[in-house]
Parts: sequence; structure tokens; C-alpha cells
Amino acid sequence: MQRPTRSTPQALTAILLPVAVTLALYWYGRSHTPDYESGLFGLHYRDANGLKAQLGTALLGLALVQLLLALWIYHRLPGAGPAPRPVPTVHRIDGLLAFLLSLPIAYHCITAYGVRLTTTRVAVHSITGCVLYGAFVAKVLVVRSRRLPGWALPTAGGLLVAAIAVLWYTAALWNLDGRHVPGF
Ligand code: HEM
Repeated sequence: MQRPTRSTPQALTAILLPVAVTLALYWYGRSHTPDYESGLFGLHYRDANGLKAQLGTALLGLALVQLLLALWIYHRLPGAGPAPRPVPTVHRIDGLLAFLLSLPIAYHCITAYGVRLTTTRVAVHSITGCVLYGAFVAKVLVVRSRRLPGWALPTAGGLLVAAIAVLWYTAALWNLDGRHVPGF
């Protein structure tokens, strides 16, 4: 039988904690009573959703910048040389800004609507919203660990960017494109 390595507890935490956060959000979103009066920076109903669509688009922009910076740091950006010194710091600041920007959007979604499974689009959006915060936790845990395998960081980072892209597509683009997107 294989003996557990020193990275085993960290790997377990990096899996179990994100799953727990995702499930906790899902449970809260399913069990609390939606408060349709919930506002976002003083706006309500359609106006709040319109603002969320714009903030969500800015969030997607920050996520794409994160992706480009990560590729640069990992020497995977075609045509660009090694990343200059400030790039990892800019990556960290951009990540923090993205996290902070996501909070009021998600707060409004989860208080006003909760997790809804009414249509495929709304279910995909709601579940991805819960996964997003699990992925945030996973990314922070992985980035602070030196014992996890090398693929863990790009996987957690990739999941984050993918979740933000799905959230944007299923709600922000849907809102901005006259309540329609291909596939939903
Ligand atoms: C815990 C996380 C989240 C949950 C549970 C969640 C859930 C929901 C639900 C149930 C709706 C109503 C959908 C409908 O009836 O049309 C909604 C709307 C919306 N969500 Fe989220 N969401 C979350 C996070 C996010 C994030 C991070 C974004 C950023 C892109 C976002 C952007 C939007 C937008 C723009 C709308 C308005 C769509 C419309 O015009 O109706 N959500 N969300």
C-alpha cells in the first residue's frame, strides 16, 4: 500500500474546503427565501440586473487579463519574452480586484434570487456561481502551498476564468443581448 506523502493533507484540504464552500452556497441559495426587493448600489429589479451585466463584463475583462498575465508568467505567451518583475504583483492585484468586484454582483444574485433551477440557463448560471467561490478558495489554497503538484495551480486558475466566462455568458451577455444567447 502507498504511504501518504507530506502533500496529502494539503491536497485533501485543497479539495474538501472548495467543495464545502460550493455546497454551503448552494444550500443557502436553495433554502433562503428570495428577496426581490434586494438592491444593488441603490438600483432594483431590471436596473440592478443591467448594472450587474455591466459589472459582470468588467469582471470578465479582469479575468481575461489574469489569464494573459498567468500565461506570461508561465512563459506560455507567444511572442512575449520572460515576464518583467512587476507582472506577478499586477497579477495578484488584478485577482484581488476581480474577487472584490464579484462580491456585490453575487450578493445581489443570491439574496434577490438564490439558486434557481427553473431553466437550463438559470440552473447553469446558479450552480456556476456557487462553483466560482469554491474555485476562489481552491486557487488561494493552491497558490500558498509549495507541496501540491505543478498542475494544481493552472487547473484552479483555469477553473476560475472558465466559471467567470460561463457566468458572464449565461446572465450578463444574455441581459445585454436582449435576453437571448445562442444555446439557451
Ligand atoms: C453565488 C453566485 C451566484 C448565484 C447563485 C447567481 C444566481 C442568479 C440567479 C438565480 C439569477 C436570476 C436569473 C434569471 O431569472 O434570469 C441571476 C441573475 C444575474 N446574475 Fe447571477 N448568480 C451568481 C453570481 C453571479 C456573478 C459572479 C455574476 C457576474 C457575471 C452574475 C451575473 C448575473 C446577472 C448579470 C444577472 C441578471 C440577468 C437578468 O437580466 O435577469 N451572477 N443570478
